[in-house]
Amino acid sequence: MTRHVDPGLGVCYYPEHWPSELWADDLDRMKEAGLATVRIAEFAWSLMEPTNGDFSSIGWFDDFLDLCAERSMRVIFGTPTATPPVWLQRAHPEILNADRSGQTYDGPRRNYNYNAPAYRYYADRVVEQIARHYGSHLAIVGWQIDNEINCEIDEFYSEGDHLAYREFLRAELGTLEEVNRALGLTFWSRQYSDWSQVRLSGRGLHDAVNPHSLLWEKRFFSHSAVRFARKQVEILRSHVPDSHFITTNGLFGNLNYTELMKAGLDFITFDSYPNFAFDVDRDLAADRLRDRRWSWSLTRTRSISRCFGIMEQQSGAHGWTSRMMGPAPKPGQMRLWTMQSVAHGADFVSYFRWRTAPMGTEIYWHGLNDYSNEPGRKMQEVTRIGQEWAALDDLWGADYQAQVAVVRTYDNVYDSELDTWHGRIERPSDDAVFAACQLSHTPLDFVYLDARSSLEDLERYRLLLVPHLAMMDEAMSELLRAFVEAGGTVVFGARTGYKDSNGLCPMRPMPGLVGQWAGVKVTDFTNLGQREEGLTATWDEQRLPVPVFSEVLEARADDVEVLARFDADYYAGEPALTRRTVGKGQVYYLGACFSEEMVRRLLTETGLVSPLAGLIEAPEGVELAVRRKGERQWLFVLNYQDEPQVLRLPTAYTDLLSGTSEQGEVEVEPYGVRVYAV
Ligand code: GAL
Repeated sequence: MTRHVDPGLGVCYYPEHWPSELWADDLDRMKEAGLATVRIAEFAWSLMEPTNGDFSSIGWFDDFLDLCAERSMRVIFGTPTATPPVWLQRAHPEILNADRSGQTYDGPRRNYNYNAPAYRYYADRVVEQIARHYGSHLAIVGWQIDNEINCEIDEFYSEGDHLAYREFLRAELGTLEEVNRALGLTFWSRQYSDWSQVRLSGRGLHDAVNPHSLLWEKRFFSHSAVRFARKQVEILRSHVPDSHFITTNGLFGNLNYTELMKAGLDFITFDSYPNFAFDVDRDLAADRLRDRRWSWSLTRTRSISRCFGIMEQQSGAHGWTSRMMGPAPKPGQMRLWTMQSVAHGADFVSYFRWRTAPMGTEIYWHGLNDYSNEPGRKMQEVTRIGQEWAALDDLWGADYQAQVAVVRTYDNVYDSELDTWHGRIERPSDDAVFAACQLSHTPLDFVYLDARSSLEDLERYRLLLVPHLAMMDEAMSELLRAFVEAGGTVVFGARTGYKDSNGLCPMRPMPGLVGQWAGVKVTDFTNLGQREEGLTATWDEQRLPVPVFSEVLEARADDVEVLARFDADYYAGEPALTRRTVGKGQVYYLGACFSEEMVRRLLTETGLVSPLAGLIEAPEGVELAVRRKGERQWLFVLNYQDEPQVLRLPTAYTDLLSGTSEQGEVEVEPYGVRVYAV
């Protein structure tokens, strides 16, 4: 049974933070504002099990749920495993996570590890009690597992993890010989001669830790989290009605979301806090895209579930007492960010949080209502969103439209996080792709490939940007080749294919397998230093930046065109960009990092830049997005600027939010939004 996200607006609420006399009024006011779903309980373990095995207060939320049911409010119930109670920590200190030097973390949350048998026992037990007690309550429509799995910390070095890692490697690699080979342990005398010696990495001098071990450790952290989540899904599924959905909120590191979804989640939700862009210590001048960058994370979220939910959408100024400081969102920004989420595929948006916490670490993380509970401009704004939401009634389930996608794999993401050479090229390329696509109004998707990916997953796209898949196996290379043969275009970037699936570098010319069908060989390469800043390559008459890394290319066949050549250094005049026709499509190879200018040129060259130009003319300061269902299309215009932006509409469109028809020159107010039926 496929369960979809229930469309609607909601809010995160903590009944345990206020006297129960306030609950009914809170719920009534939520309803009035159009917030029909409440997420609760995700940190309330010690309320439901105050001491070991005492479940006499498991029904702590009953009265609250009854009030919800009376008002037809829908509830998402969180399993409380992100905050183990103090009694459990004291009785079983081994449930705590530790850093690489073995130092354990104490509070305040996400301080546990997934592999301590005691934690698994107690976590399973409380989830089972909750599922049995609340599973059939009429108000509940779905479940959130834990809270932000792998947030705060995504590395685990407790004793339980060391032991579980041993079993993980044994299951994955079979023999110690294979462990020694796959992890490259001949280097610096690190071979194991007995399974009992196998441990996660310790602290190394100069942070020097074997990169292949670290890669396996990241896979292990992900595997542990997925196994933990799967167990909760199994417990919930055996007690709650089939119609209830199960989700969790993301997105975080060292976690393979393709695998997490296979643990039995129905869809993913994302926690969207675009106001981080305006934190007091951010260099605003250095970042043109600011809150618009959250569209990158929303794009990632969409690659996991094409329609998804926002479990926590920012509604106020933010900050913990210990870190982070953001200003209050300006009037209009909450509405803008809500529609940013919707434009990218969110069918459900729940605000964080109904009222600012009166106590604890998060007293500065502000909600829709402030401590005083006197309704102010944030409640007015959310009420407006609630009214407008109704006008989008047919949109839910509609698909975001993109012809261009960035291809990634989790292994390559991991590799780029732990190998500074890889990381150094990955980040600027991501920035370049994002900026070029955003500013030219070219909608973008992400595709995460794995061993089960098929041509069907790629066919909806016409152009795949494959910046730096250092690790590339034969199946992936063949899949991308099949995509090209069928008529697609692929653009590879520098450092493609020089590592195997363990991150070892096999003896073969770069770019490995891809080179054979892209018709290209790397004859020399260098990481660029400060001296080479500003390096360009010329494509026809255009000089384009080729930053961070250079690969000098050689065409391996007569039908390979050299499109651009380096302009300087000892390889001036050598090929920097090639193109070859393969079957009905084309493959480009760029021996460099992507620059914004290069991506724009590639988008233009492939005829895929600004596909919405026929529908609307818009300045760079706004984001455009289209969702489509059948014949119907919704065109989103999002103005992130604090000044008006002028659009030009070739014909009259109705803005569904205001109900007005607009045509010709249209001024969109600061932080303004339009959703046109087109
Ligand atoms: C989220 C988290 C919430 C709350 C919020 C503000 O990441 O899920 O529980 O902590 O941040 O810090």
